[in-house]
Amino acid sequence: MAAQGTIVWVSGPAVKADGMSDAKMYETVTVGNSKLVGEVIRLTGDVAFIQVYESTSGLKPGEPVAGTGNPLSVLLGPGIIGQLYDGIQRPLRELSKASGSFIGRGITTSAVDMTKQYHFVPTVNNGDEVAAGNVIGTVQETDLIEHSIMLPPDHAGGKISNLVSEGDYDLETVLAATEKDGESIPVRMYHKWPVRKPRPYHKRYDPTVPLLTGQRVIDTFFPIAKGGTGSIPGAFGTGKTVTLHQIAKWADSQVVVYIGCGERGNEMTEVLVEFPHLKDPRSGKPLMDRTVLVANTSNMPVAAREASIYTGVTIAEYYRDMGKDVVLVADSTSRWAESLREMSGRLEEMPAEEGYPSYLASRLAEFYERAGRVQAAGSPERDGSVTLIGAVSPSGGDFTEPVTTHTMRFIKTFWALDAKLAYSRHYPSINWMNSYSGYLADIAKWWSENISEDWFNIRSETYGVLQREDTLKEIVRLLGPEALPDEEKLILEVARMVKIGLLQQNSFDDVDTYCSPEKQFKLMKLCVDFYKKGQQALKEGASLSEIRELGVVSSLLKARMDVKDDEMPKLEQLDKDMQEQFKSISGVKVSN
Ligand SMILES: Nc1ncnc2c1ncn2[C@@H]1O[C@H](COP(=O)(O)OP(=O)(O)OP(=O)(O)O)[C@@H](O)[C@H]1O
Ligand SMILES: [Mg+2]
Repeated sequence: MAAQGTIVWVSGPAVKADGMSDAKMYETVTVGNSKLVGEVIRLTGDVAFIQVYESTSGLKPGEPVAGTGNPLSVLLGPGIIGQLYDGIQRPLRELSKASGSFIGRGITTSAVDMTKQYHFVPTVNNGDEVAAGNVIGTVQETDLIEHSIMLPPDHAGGKISNLVSEGDYDLETVLAATEKDGESIPVRMYHKWPVRKPRPYHKRYDPTVPLLTGQRVIDTFFPIAKGGTGSIPGAFGTGKTVTLHQIAKWADSQVVVYIGCGERGNEMTEVLVEFPHLKDPRSGKPLMDRTVLVANTSNMPVAAREASIYTGVTIAEYYRDMGKDVVLVADSTSRWAESLREMSGRLEEMPAEEGYPSYLASRLAEFYERAGRVQAAGSPERDGSVTLIGAVSPSGGDFTEPVTTHTMRFIKTFWALDAKLAYSRHYPSINWMNSYSGYLADIAKWWSENISEDWFNIRSETYGVLQREDTLKEIVRLLGPEALPDEEKLILEVARMVKIGLLQQNSFDDVDTYCSPEKQFKLMKLCVDFYKKGQQALKEGASLSEIRELGVVSSLLKARMDVKDDEMPKLEQLDKDMQEQFKSISGVKVSN
């Protein structure tokens, strides 16, 4: 029997109700006379602690609480793409229409339009044996997304019967039934799945395929794998949002789930106003044709923000199960953690570091553990991935605070934004000494097979130059650059070339905004070749100023913007020019 209790205490989004001994953990409940949506987050005896996803103003002790018997779930079916949801998958545009204001209370709207018709093409036949996760047909959800209709992951399976023929149907139409042990289960275009429960899959792959973002400092220096995890911490205004937008736009994934957790007004404007206008650069269609937005603003209840990352990742897993590569970006997880802190404070739990609850770490782990590249359950065989990337906004850029440090335990790629770099307009302001990627070795094979066998070595050499510059910088600071021998000054020169010509990338420049893997490699190779030729020239008696003055230096610095991805011959020419110019330095015989 569903629990029937009574409110005894209300504190903001937190409510205590007694008489709830029949309730289950994480069961959704309706709270008060206006039936607000809530979720049981702690049970002690017959007292339930409930977080309420809507404003509780006016709610009073004595009002009823009723269990629904169901965990907090999302509706999964065509119509999700292009939506703007709150943290519990209520469509914000519909909600504002229904309530007149931005977000009304106690209003139930469906997550997707249940009456919209989609053209269903069956891929099974009557009599076919099917199991959980099997695809039974497809519909075209948007211009960019073909949506597989799958049996739910907890489906009992059976024999297909009463299959409809190809045609237009809405979400409630029974498309087929499965028959097993005398039981018939209807199959529709959608099913529901609890947000806090990872969707099952058949098997998990090693993270060996890079998620290519077209951003050089990411792909070449600190790569992330498909199905991997990454974090981008940075102080106010250092470029978190711009980087996440670049990833959403350019990463080689089919679906983007963008979770915006904003505090200040401007953070949300970026998602609510800017995002719907972004174009998918490859197809020229709106980016929203392959994107789902989950948004939390400061005027929405904190509990919905807490739920938003689970709602987002469940939607991401659903599209993964269709065999798609999905990128989920959360901007920023610090705001999400603050909602956890606020709820915990309301419930008078014992705080751990900086007032965050002791379970902050396990919650972050539960989220990031849902990343992965997998073979989906059921047939036909399909591989998909969920890549999880979270921005962190530590106040004052202090990376030792709890959200950053705990996040670092569960992610494998760390892009540390640096306020000094941002201040000097070195963008992306990803600090190359503090950042790291745990996927480098795993994805090196992909680069070697697809781009160049030399990739790993050339990348190591380039990174080596940056490391040596970092140690030399200290000497330069103390004694000035003139204290260094030419050989070491050359390192500074090449490091400058790598920083300006390779690491810096202008998101707002038509050419520079995206860089193909081929071009990334060639630009890097040119820098390393320049270094080698320079070393040799010095040995053979050339002076550093002669090397610095070579015309090829400025061409190399600008090549990222001057040479388009499809103009690779221009880089070959640059290479030839470089050989010629080194030969021309007087008295130098450069052998090839
Ligand atoms: N790759 C880039 N290319 C060019 N400009 C950039 C780049 N990255 C960041 N910027 C500049 O930095 C500004 C701030 O970036 P952004 O809004 O992404 O910072 P943020 O870290 O998200 O800030 P907040 O803490 O306010 O959320 C941008 O408006 C843009 O001018
Ligand atoms: Mg931002």
